[in-house]
Amino acid sequence: MEIIKVENNKKKYLDLLLLGDEQESMIDRYLERGTMYIMKENEVVAVCVVTDEGNSVLEIKNISVYPQYQNMGYGRKFIEFIEKKYQRFKKIKVGTGDSPLTVPFYQKCGFKEAYRIKNFFIENYDHPIYECGVQLKDMIYFEK
Ligand SMILES: CC(C)(COP(=O)(O)OP(=O)(O)OC[C@H]1O[C@@H](n2cnc3c(N)ncnc32)[C@H](O)[C@@H]1OP(=O)(O)O)[C@@H](O)C(=O)NCCC(=O)NCCS
Repeated sequence: MEIIKVENNKKKYLDLLLLGDEQESMIDRYLERGTMYIMKENEVVAVCVVTDEGNSVLEIKNISVYPQYQNMGYGRKFIEFIEKKYQRFKKIKVGTGDSPLTVPFYQKCGFKEAYRIKNFFIENYDHPIYECGVQLKDMIYFEK
């Protein structure tokens, strides 16, 4: 398994980025200023984009594993890589919808819920987003 920094043509991995953030205009808000990595196991299995939010806070803006590689430990390995690489930061945060597909993953990786932004998904996305049949409303921020 190898993790490679992507410097150019980040949109080449748009299909993967859209798994974690399904509206391209929202991805455009962080993609250029973000640092992007891909994880490869012969072929690409996952992507992660992080941003420096200032005050020693790193934010994971997108982490996505192709469905056929999910639940095999790649997401956790990616988080571990980010933690090691960005040890100099005091805090790592990540925002996600209140979804049973993502919340347990961050909890397993040791993140704790810190705060919520009410109605973030309703106010910032141009269409309702459903996961497991439930509409996402608030953005929950986890921190570690
Ligand atoms: C969320 C995601 C990144 C997790 O990556 P992954 O490689 O599937 O997760 P891992 O296999 O590393 O799982 C790590 C741990 O979390 C647990 N976990 C992962 N998803 C879970 C879920 N939906 N429910 C319960 N536990 C879950 C695993 O069981 C594992 O626990 P264990 O170590 O005790 O066995 C991946 O499923 C994904 O890309 N989803 C679609 C995109 C997305 O929603 N991204 C997040 C945007 S905020």
